[in-house]
Amino acid sequence: MKLRVFATKEEGGLYGASLVERVVEGISHPVLGLATGATVTPLYAALARLHRSGLDLSQCTTINLDEYIGLPPDHPQSYHHFMDEHLFRHVNIPPTQVHIPDGMAADLTAECSRYDAIVTRQRIDFQLLGIGVNGHIGFNEPSHILQSNTHVVTLRQETLLHNAKFFEDYAEVPKLAITMGVQAILQAKQIVLMAFGAEKAPVIARAFFGDVRTDVPASILQLHQDVTLILDAQSARELP
Ligand code: GLP
Repeated sequence: MKLRVFATKEEGGLYGASLVERVVEGISHPVLGLATGATVTPLYAALARLHRSGLDLSQCTTINLDEYIGLPPDHPQSYHHFMDEHLFRHVNIPPTQVHIPDGMAADLTAECSRYDAIVTRQRIDFQLLGIGVNGHIGFNEPSHILQSNTHVVTLRQETLLHNAKFFEDYAEVPKLAITMGVQAILQAKQIVLMAFGAEKAPVIARAFFGDVRTDVPASILQLHQDVTLILDAQSARELP
């Protein structure tokens, strides 16, 4: 595991974007696994700046980790909308090469199978991750098992409370989501996990310096050979 600690999240985002740039310039048809959340927005802002200075993203395919169930793509808190706002409208990735689970699908089992076909057809070159305060990656929540494939998940209360900051009212936070499973994440060639701020410090220490446990889903990343952690001083402060 590579560990990089930055003074600010903007510097962390810039470094993360430079890792994306390396992949985009080094591979003819790169597949990027993308994440949502406040943590990754500095990386997307830096990537948009790199694009404005000439970085061509037109050959990229993107595969997002997850989406809320029941929010239409144009809902301000849907992950479709998040991705448009923070990345897609600023860069030149063709919409036909963008994949995000459909949280409005009438048949969610079929939607999970459709998404699994996408992630098995093309191995992810670069997987970006945030981390939940409870250790979730994507929406793979702490449990007695970790599911391999794309699945529907009931969000845990700590996740609902954390994500409520983006909604006007706690009652509006969707209770269900669709998420890529841990298999596709672990099959990515390179994984970059970002975490900033003191509230992530305990989970970063548990996930990367404790045992591998299904009740700390991110700890499974200890089994991967190419993981980079991008932290700030606050999120790194409980590391041994
Ligand atoms: C959501 C996403 C996760 C993300 C997490 C962190 O729960 N499903 O993929 O890691 O938010 O959010 P934030 O970066 O806002 O702390």
